[in-house]
Amino acid sequence: MIEVAKRLHTVEEYYFSKKLREVGLLIASGKPIINLGIGSPDLQPPQKVIDAISNSLFDATAHKYQGYQGLPELREAIASFYSTHFSVKINATNEILPLMGSKEGIMHISLAYLNEGDEVLIPNPGYPTYQSVTKLVGAKGVLYDLDATNNWMPNIEALEQEDLSKVKLMWVNYPHMPTGAKPTETVFEELVAFARRHNILIVNDNPYSFVLNDNPTSILSIEGAKDVCLELNSLSKTFNMAGWRVGMVLGNSEHISNILKVKSNMDSGMFYGIQKGAIEALKCSEMWFVTLNSVYRKRRNLVWKLADALNCTYDKNATGLFVWAKLPPYLKSEEFIDLVLKDNHIFITPGTIFGTQGEGYIRFSLCASEEVLEEAIARVK
Ligand SMILES: Cc1ncc(COP(=O)(O)O)c(C=O)c1O
Repeated sequence: MIEVAKRLHTVEEYYFSKKLREVGLLIASGKPIINLGIGSPDLQPPQKVIDAISNSLFDATAHKYQGYQGLPELREAIASFYSTHFSVKINATNEILPLMGSKEGIMHISLAYLNEGDEVLIPNPGYPTYQSVTKLVGAKGVLYDLDATNNWMPNIEALEQEDLSKVKLMWVNYPHMPTGAKPTETVFEELVAFARRHNILIVNDNPYSFVLNDNPTSILSIEGAKDVCLELNSLSKTFNMAGWRVGMVLGNSEHISNILKVKSNMDSGMFYGIQKGAIEALKCSEMWFVTLNSVYRKRRNLVWKLADALNCTYDKNATGLFVWAKLPPYLKSEEFIDLVLKDNHIFITPGTIFGTQGEGYIRFSLCASEEVLEEAIARVK
């Protein structure tokens, strides 16, 4: 038997990868499972995006290796998207690196900046990949707690009571997943000042800005942010293109060229047709967002009803692709979701997969049709 690398002992298989196997077995045994677990948009991307990829297939360079930094046209589309939607000026030549989804950016940034033993501030609750990638690169995750009383914002004063001397990087994710908490401008300002004071690179992972959120914001809009911050973004949720794998990292040219050093040694460019489709997506007018959100708004109303039927409470001001709901007192997230899976054949994500601060919460995805959600409500009632 070949011994695996030590780093593999630091992580486990991704929760959804395991749990969806279990859900798959239930489906195979004939159970009519409703999956409200994962946030994989079920709606179609814009038609012009699909046309762009199909029309591109016969272009002369369509099947060749593509440049490591993506097509200049794609970087220009990203720059113009950031200018239109976030009022952030970004240089298309050297301040943007297209990625295959924002998830891979978490690994590239970590490989570019972290040495063994470096410390990384990670939100609890938060996207599990920050923690697993930190472990895989041999760095040390230091969790910072978020809670409802502080609207899931970091408590910078409390952080500054800790020894930050080994902290090199901090993950923040606003609008926040799983809670849907919206960032205030003050929070971004405070984070940028905190990063400066302690020489920490802050990365805002920002893939949910356009879902049920009237005011998309970027940490890069704060003056001086580019010196100490990076931002990840993605077309997965904004344009229903999760399977396409298109994302981006934005920041100053020095940071971007460091990340490029890693990335250019790992893949050989993004498929041409995908880039052509992405360019069209980024050019969508306001109408796209209005239509997308009218569907999610109706779904969210139904998920709220489902949460009511399960005696949960939730914040109606939250944004994003999920409803984060608090269980009645004393109930444990994983026991609760197992019960609902067994009794009602509905799969919901337990808050604990996002960290200990998720105990007592569950997360419903809005990636299911109104018909399916009505059925889920009927089952619970
Ligand atoms: C907070 C957060 N960051 C990043 C990602 C990854 O998105 P992408 O599809 O762009 O890799 C997700 C996906 O669920 C997410 O929830």
